[in-house]
Amino acid sequence: MSDKVFIFDTTLRDGEQSPGATMNMQEKIRLARQLETLGVDIMEAGFPAASQGDFEAVQAIANTIRDVQVAGLCRAIEPDIDRCWEAIKGGANPRIHTFIATSPVHMQYKLRKEPAQVLEMAREAVKYAARYTSNVEFSAEDASRSDWDFLARVVETAIDAGATTINIPDTVGYAQPQEFGEMVAYVMEKAANSHKAVFSVHCHNDLGLAVANTLSALKAGARQAEVTISGIGERAGNASLEEVVMALRTRSGYYGLENRIQTEQLFPTCRLLSMIIGQAIPPYKAIVGPNAFAHESGIHQDGMLKNRETYEIMTPESVGRLKTEIVLGKHSGRNAIKGKVEELGYRLDDEQIQIVFEAIKRLADKKEKVYDEDIEALIHEEVFRIPD
Ligand code: KIV
Ligand code: ZN
Repeated sequence: MSDKVFIFDTTLRDGEQSPGATMNMQEKIRLARQLETLGVDIMEAGFPAASQGDFEAVQAIANTIRDVQVAGLCRAIEPDIDRCWEAIKGGANPRIHTFIATSPVHMQYKLRKEPAQVLEMAREAVKYAARYTSNVEFSAEDASRSDWDFLARVVETAIDAGATTINIPDTVGYAQPQEFGEMVAYVMEKAANSHKAVFSVHCHNDLGLAVANTLSALKAGARQAEVTISGIGERAGNASLEEVVMALRTRSGYYGLENRIQTEQLFPTCRLLSMIIGQAIPPYKAIVGPNAFAHESGIHQDGMLKNRETYEIMTPESVGRLKTEIVLGKHSGRNAIKGKVEELGYRLDDEQIQIVFEAIKRLADKKEKVYDEDIEALIHEEVFRIPD
């Protein structure tokens, strides 16, 4: 089995379904270019049958981006597939991504179809799409709440009809990591022709498990991860690209899987998205949040000053951030304060450091964050002040 994982970014499609994250055409093209620089393998540019605006944006992206496959999403019906192909056909290696739901609740209430009819629709849709291109992805929507044997039959049928990528979505974020990995392995084992397709997963974050479920499925044999920048997406979002990629990179010995993401582009990409959608990156967001490389506790700061690996499992530079931040506050120790004072250009003796240390502690009790300007003011006030 290959050790290459394809990174399929769906920020422009599922990510845009995040409330408040609508992007105009120029913004989508700008983000698409940045995704190309980041090194994603496939970007899902939108859902061409959804609206004229979506169609035009997908078409513009397909005609602009040359180094990344551009995918369009469509339901498993011919008019949607035609519209999708019309939008993406100018792309360098365009992909039709067609889907139909396979869970009992979706088949009965949403589609009002029997399982046998759904199986037939999947076959016909993939066959129809494959007349346009050999790059066809099939998704079994709500796969994680589907009967595993039925799912395996649908998957086998889709591969027979010409699908080259099979996506197993956890549409409502219901799956649990171990169970989801077992399900992916089961379907791959049960579908006799599974070796002819790349298996993919697409996880939502309703229980905060999207990244864990994605990683578990990769461990079980999936080789495409569908993700979004900063994890934006429908409801609680999708698996976050930067978290999946950095887990694979930081724990490469555990996963043994490669991808072509330029990790130094992670932070710039998240920041660009945040500017476009007008939503700040939350402070505690892993990898890219303002606090992700900020150390406040005195014990941690002391460890960091001795050796960064004590409290840092990856460097900020490796994800495109400037540097580790030592945040001075009431938990800071003498060593961290001495380091900061020296960084600001002052050479103080032990007695003077002690004076500054005590002054910072007093200030930190009243103020949430102590800034460099506060420290300089304290040095001048407490150490260099000429008595009246
Ligand atoms: O969540 C989902 O099931 C989807 C599919 C259409 C891939 O977004
Ligand atoms: Zn989704």
